[in-house]
Amino acid sequence: MSTEKQLLVIAHRGAKGEAPENTLAAFRLGLEQGCDAIELDIHLSKDGELIVIHDATLDRTTDMKGAVNDLTVAELKQADAGSWFDEKFAGERLPLLEEVFDLTPPDVMINVEIKGSYGRKLEHALCALMKRKNRVHNVVVSSFDHKSLMFLKLLLPEAKIGLLYDMNAAKHSALADTLGLPVYSLHPNMKRIDTEDVREAIERGLRVYPYTINDEAQMQEAIDYGVSGIITDYPGRLNGLLDRQ
Ligand code: G3P
Ligand code: CA
Repeated sequence: MSTEKQLLVIAHRGAKGEAPENTLAAFRLGLEQGCDAIELDIHLSKDGELIVIHDATLDRTTDMKGAVNDLTVAELKQADAGSWFDEKFAGERLPLLEEVFDLTPPDVMINVEIKGSYGRKLEHALCALMKRKNRVHNVVVSSFDHKSLMFLKLLLPEAKIGLLYDMNAAKHSALADTLGLPVYSLHPNMKRIDTEDVREAIERGLRVYPYTINDEAQMQEAIDYGVSGIITDYPGRLNGLLDRQ
C-alpha cells in the first residue's frame, strides 16, 4: 500500500455475492473483478493453524458439522466448502490464511477479521504468519473484539489495526482514542455513519471502510460521504459504478 487509491474496492469474504464466501474461488473472482483489497474471517484449528471461515462451526458453509477448533487442518480439509452455494463450486476447500496470502498479489490489501477468542493463540499465530510471509504492511487486522486488536498491536507494533463496530457513536473518530494505541482505520456499519463522521475521521488521518454495501444507491451514498473504501459482496458492481463516475 505505498500509493493509496482514493477509494478501495474491498471484496467481502471474496466476491461473496457470486461465489462461496471465504474460499479461494471467491477470492480469485474478486481479484478478476479488479478488487483493491480482500476482506476475510479467521478462526483457529485444533492444531493451531489459521483457517479462513466466518462462523465458529462448519455447519452453515460446508457439508460437515462441528466446531472449527475441534478439528485439525487435515480434518477440516475434508469439508466441501463450495457445494452449499452452487454445485459448480463442489470441492472448494476451506483455505488456510497462508494460502490466501500466497494467492493475493502484494499490491492487494488483505483485511483479516479476527473471529472468536482462543486464549490469544490466534493473535500469536497471526503475527508470526504476517512476519513470515512479509505481509505486515499490506494487511489490516480488524475485529469487533477491540481487546484482541490491542493485544495484537502490542505483539506487533507495526501492524495496522482497524476498529470494527456496529454502534451509533456520537463521534466516530473519537473511538480511535479508546484503545490508547494507534488505529489505522474505522470499519463502521454503513447504516451508522454520515458525511460529517467520515470527514472528521479522514481529517484525523483515519481511513473509513464501511460494511457491507451491495446496492448501487448505497454505494453512491458512501462515495459521496468520501469514504476510503467500501466493503462489498459485489466488487465487480462497485468497479462498474466507479468506472461511470
Ligand atoms: O468486516 C466487515 C464485516 O465483514 C463484518 O461483519 O459478520 O460480515 O464478518 P461480518
Ligand atoms: Ca468479516
